[in-house]
Amino acid sequence: MKLVVIGAQWGDEGKGKIVDFLAEEADVIVRFSGGANAGHTIVHDDVTYKLHLVPSGIIAPDTRVILGSGMVIDPESLFDELDRLTAQGVDWEGRVFISDRAHLVLPHYKEIDIEQDRTRIKPIGTTGRGIGVAYAKKASRDGMRMIDSLDPAQVELLPPEDRTFIARFAARYTPLLVDLAAFMRTAAPEEHHLLEGAQGALLDIDIGTYPYVSSGSSAAAGACVGAAIGPRSIDHVLGVFKAYSTRVGNGPFPSEFRGKDTDELEELVRETGREYGVTTGRPRRCGYLDLVALRYACAVNSVDSLALTHLDVYDTVEAPKLCIAYETEAGVIEDFPSDINLLEEARPVTKSFAGWNQPIGECKTYEELPQEARSYIEFIEEFIETPISMISIGYERERTIVRRNPWKV
Ligand code: IMO
Ligand code: MG
Repeated sequence: MKLVVIGAQWGDEGKGKIVDFLAEEADVIVRFSGGANAGHTIVHDDVTYKLHLVPSGIIAPDTRVILGSGMVIDPESLFDELDRLTAQGVDWEGRVFISDRAHLVLPHYKEIDIEQDRTRIKPIGTTGRGIGVAYAKKASRDGMRMIDSLDPAQVELLPPEDRTFIARFAARYTPLLVDLAAFMRTAAPEEHHLLEGAQGALLDIDIGTYPYVSSGSSAAAGACVGAAIGPRSIDHVLGVFKAYSTRVGNGPFPSEFRGKDTDELEELVRETGREYGVTTGRPRRCGYLDLVALRYACAVNSVDSLALTHLDVYDTVEAPKLCIAYETEAGVIEDFPSDINLLEEARPVTKSFAGWNQPIGECKTYEELPQEARSYIEFIEEFIETPISMISIGYERERTIVRRNPWKV
């Protein structure tokens, strides 16, 4: 069985925690896109793990994890991360593999990335990890795949700094390389494969809020090319979203908290939800859950069910609101627009709900959740026409309510 997990917003939806939870039942986890721009936090047995390149399935024992063909990989960053995992007692040797078709991020890509964004008239606010440069080189056929970096004739064409860099890491990454297409083909039918996305649907290069996007295919469709499988083999697409919205960097964000009235709520969400970037430490922009954007994300990704995270962050909020339409110069719209100017000036039409005003972190079943929380959840499900199969009510793996196990479809 193949289960795809994607972010259904602008990244940072809590994919790390959900993947870690689902990984208990997985045999293989393939991260299918992005690079060290991602930041995934996993809390388990009081230990916090922060991952950027390594798939979030690594913490669960007995899994094998693969950095997929759709990824762009900085080996320095990868081995720093693996060394940190070793220091934290995670036994990863023999469990981590890299698709030999994945592209390398070479040292000068980061400098180009930072300089390009600094001189852009409207900066994107990239993470400065060289991601856009690596994908641009890939698209213009000037990239360096992992497999190509083993070919002296190709390496010879690189600037000296890049050659030295490859020479420094090749001996460590070569034993981890696999032909992912062949690997996936030989899988036994009963094996559970989890295809793990990074970033989110709205940061996808094609379906996101272009140009304020990342450069990889973070949509569900990216799981196919990024994990070397065909679309028919996917059994379930799970979209992860938060009880509210966040965005890091620049770009339109219709439901963003604006003005003095929402100062207190913004502070509460940012501090309780720990809404600071794992990769860059930047405070994340926060806003109401945007159902216009979420409905779009679900439609274009064939999302079968959703995982709602960070619901507990709203425990003390008097009257949580949801954004259900946009007010624009062109009138009230209910469809997510492609016109970036329309999206920039869109203001949220909101609907208020009664708050539950009690901690929900100890609830074990859906029925134990306060009625007000269930009303909030059920409104979302009806609006999006997609069931919410999992609800996260805290950072720890245990604080997860499963209404329907996505592995059992
Ligand atoms: P995870 O996997 C949130 C954002 C950056 C910037 C834009 C382009 O943790 O959800 P890039 O360096 O990729 O060229 O930056 O995309 N961005 C993310 N925002 N979560 C992420 O990943 C992100 N990865 C990139 O902030 O606005
Ligand atoms: Mg993140």
